[in-house]
Amino acid sequence: MRAVLVANPKGGAGKTTLATNLSGYFANKGKKTTLCDLDRQQSSLRWMAFRDPALAAITGYFAGNQISLNLPKEADWVVVDAPAGLQGYKLSDYLRTVDKVIVPLVPSVFIWQRQRTF
Ligand SMILES: Nc1ncnc2c1ncn2[C@@H]1O[C@H](COP(=O)(O)OP(=O)(O)OP(=O)(O)O)[C@@H](O)[C@H]1O
Ligand SMILES: [Mg+2]
Repeated sequence: MRAVLVANPKGGAGKTTLATNLSGYFANKGKKTTLCDLDRQQSSLRWMAFRDPALAAITGYFAGNQISLNLPKEADWVVVDAPAGLQGYKLSDYLRTVDKVIVPLVPSVFIWQRQRTF
């Protein structure tokens, strides 16, 4: 089993969009795929509910905002959709547990403004 954590403490950065699409990608490649939703909004699981059952299977479950991450060993890939605000000891534990981390970013005009000389 390998696990990828999709995380960014900022809300609305694209975590769920990326986690669900990545899960679909792995499933279409024939991998046994589990989508682990850690966000109490459960957006990933709502996406699962709309997904055509005829498509390659993805197992989805809600794992809550766990202190320590326990992932299913039987999957080929586990994609973990993190909640906004993930930080501190929970983030440290999650980073130790997974194999890869993806951080979706939202471009901001403020970066450009900060570098400008007025
Ligand atoms: N690459 C992208 N390009 C344009 N819009 C995007 C992209 N990724 C996500 N979005 C849009 O941004 C919004 C937030 O995306 P999403 O729900 O995936 O973010 P999130 O980080 O999971 O949010 P939350 O922190 O609330 O869980 C959605 O409307 C989504 O359609
Ligand atoms: Mg989300």
